[in-house]
Amino acid sequence: MTDFKRTLITSALPYANGPVHIGHLAGVYVPADIYARYLRLKGEEVLFIGGSDEHGVPITLKARNAGITPQDVVDKYHAMIKDSFQRLGISFDVYSRTSAPIHYETASQFFRNLYDGGKFVEKTTAQYFDEETGQFLADRYIVGTCPKCGFEKAYGDQCESCGTSLSPTELITPRSMLSGNTPVLKETKHWYLPLDQYEPWLREWILEGHKEWKSNVYGQCKSWIDSGLQPRAVTRDLDWGVPVPLDEAQGKVLYVWFDAPIGYISATRELTPEWEKWWKERDTRMLHFIGKDNIVFHCIIFPAMLKAEGSYNLPDNVPANEFLNLEGDKISTSRNWAVWLHEYLEEFPGKEDVLKYVLTANAPETKDNDFTWKDFQTRNNSELVAILGNFVNRALVLTEKYFEATVPAAGAFTENDRQTLETLSVLKGEIEKSLNSFRFREALKNGMDMARLGNKYLADEEPWKVIKSDQERVKTILYVSLQVTANLTIALEPFLPFSMEKLRGFLNTGRLGWDQ
Ligand code: MF3
Ligand code: ZN
Repeated sequence: MTDFKRTLITSALPYANGPVHIGHLAGVYVPADIYARYLRLKGEEVLFIGGSDEHGVPITLKARNAGITPQDVVDKYHAMIKDSFQRLGISFDVYSRTSAPIHYETASQFFRNLYDGGKFVEKTTAQYFDEETGQFLADRYIVGTCPKCGFEKAYGDQCESCGTSLSPTELITPRSMLSGNTPVLKETKHWYLPLDQYEPWLREWILEGHKEWKSNVYGQCKSWIDSGLQPRAVTRDLDWGVPVPLDEAQGKVLYVWFDAPIGYISATRELTPEWEKWWKERDTRMLHFIGKDNIVFHCIIFPAMLKAEGSYNLPDNVPANEFLNLEGDKISTSRNWAVWLHEYLEEFPGKEDVLKYVLTANAPETKDNDFTWKDFQTRNNSELVAILGNFVNRALVLTEKYFEATVPAAGAFTENDRQTLETLSVLKGEIEKSLNSFRFREALKNGMDMARLGNKYLADEEPWKVIKSDQERVKTILYVSLQVTANLTIALEPFLPFSMEKLRGFLNTGRLGWDQ
């Protein structure tokens, strides 16, 4: 971390075509929230941006299948997702959406700036067209056999079996998702961002300039850049999306991956008239929290858009996570294999922090990881209850019992007292170091080590025995124990905000800062 005055944290805008699940949470929203809360505790200026991504073919397909409009689909899921994030305690400063008028305006203007600056390449190419429905078949409107792995249901933009990104004309035996027919080729004009022209700059900026990025992120960027970047179409022949703001582009919209990241800018504009400070002042640091499937868009395409525009900051870091599986199997919306956030909240009221705890303790930071209900139960019982709950409970109950719930004054410290207080501040420093480098699991582990320290201290000092002979000494023991407790309410607040608020209530300390 160097010279910055404020931090803009963005979290990937989830598609409003279904509820969010634990995979989204573990990958993006829980770590982003921890980081935002941590910076706020440190008294830093921070904005935490979220919102719904409301365009794209999965949404129009879903609407079509359900016989409703795309707007109906996104209205339903936007409300649901926003509400469940709030109940989980994800502390967005703004939660916007890409069907909002301010987003249409921002995204159109962004396109116009690039267009007027001559940043696009126009190309007329032959694309698949469904003659029966009279529509071009962009992205997921077309399926076929993957040329790489032979999977028969690969989409026009990607094969979900082998992960290769594809263009529709690469598919073997293409079929229309609308009619099932074999499509014909028809000419159409589109606007492309010539990523190939940005390759030398991307090489320099990422491969030379950001060697500190997580190795999964850096590695993906390197392999994209090394395999040669191609011009990317930023427009589509679709009727759901932000209209291309050109007279000659009737019936065309911006590609969802062009407009969605601009949603971060629109959300900031929606929140504050000072939005430019967050996007253009060089002493603002920008961080994108995303899942690994979003790396190329946030590290290569969006930065190239920002660079082409010229007046915006680029991200300082993109701490992307790997994927979370559920009971050994890939989470899948279509197979309904997921733990849905809204259902968890109904089923486990008051256990919001437990979910966050488990997802952080087992976060897919460096490799894919597995969520199991058995692990959930074990971590709740033998970590949250047996270590944290047990220590805090004993410190509070003994203070109440012996000293009428007031913090006793300490006498002279013993070697063990001094060492315990010393270890406490070492652990706090460790948590800080881990958080600064986006190692959330490690940070949480160090936080729990504070509670372990407290338990060990009580076990060594046995105040319940000492009270019989030396009440003065017990004052000091509980003073030290309460120091540990107060530090826990700070160190664990980013991870367990509801529980720590409750605990601060018991301690009557009010809200403390990180360095207090
Ligand atoms: N909706 C995308 C996804 O779920 C993420 C969009 S991130 C944004 O994969 F930057 F484009 F907004
Ligand atoms: Zn494939």
